[in-house]
Amino acid sequence: MNYNNVKFVRSAAAEKDFIDDGRKQIVFAGRSNVGKSSVINRLLGRKNFARASATPGKTAHINYFLIDDQVYLADLPGYGYAKVPDAEKLRWAKLMESYFERTDLISAGVLIVDLRHKPTADDVTMAQWFKSVGCPLVVLANKSDKCKKGEISANAALIRETLGLGERDELIIFSAEKGEGRDRLAAALEALI
Ligand code: GTP
Ligand code: MG
Repeated sequence: MNYNNVKFVRSAAAEKDFIDDGRKQIVFAGRSNVGKSSVINRLLGRKNFARASATPGKTAHINYFLIDDQVYLADLPGYGYAKVPDAEKLRWAKLMESYFERTDLISAGVLIVDLRHKPTADDVTMAQWFKSVGCPLVVLANKSDKCKKGEISANAALIRETLGLGERDELIIFSAEKGEGRDRLAAALEALI
């Protein structure tokens, strides 16, 4: 797949805006501020394509990017950010509920967690959702550049255990900042689609 051929297609705030054109869709999910947009930027080799924001919760829509006219990347708004108003949380919950009902639209998932921390209950729910609907999932442990070298393997093991990953489930150690894991992610996505 040619990642240089990429178009921003649409921001969806409600179900009527979901893309449903028969092309495959890979969804990028994870906690607010974990680096979903930065991971997409790194994958594409662009600095600021998917908006990377220093303000958590700012990406309140599902942003669709079309790669090589073949596959969509869907950048989801992050979960678990405490400081957003209740009305916004509700809006987010409705959007996510309607999105994850559309299993027919979702071909594969990339769940992004923070390599430094134990996955949250929401991360576990997310991983279980992919398993329960039989949708292929790649887990990516981001911000490796902020993790001490000596802690990486123990942290990766804790992530595997907490998310219930099997031996054959892929966990990619990643740094959107430095580029570690970029080619592994690209290869994993090629294998999924
Ligand atoms: P929401 O859209 O708000 O849910 O956030 P997001 O998950 O898309 O996170 P985003 O890409 O906006 O990144 C959040 C912050 O983390 C930004 O300040 C990024 O620069 C930083 N960040 C993302 N990935 C990395 C990484 O691998 N290493 C380091 N050091 N910082 C990172
Ligand atoms: Mg984002």
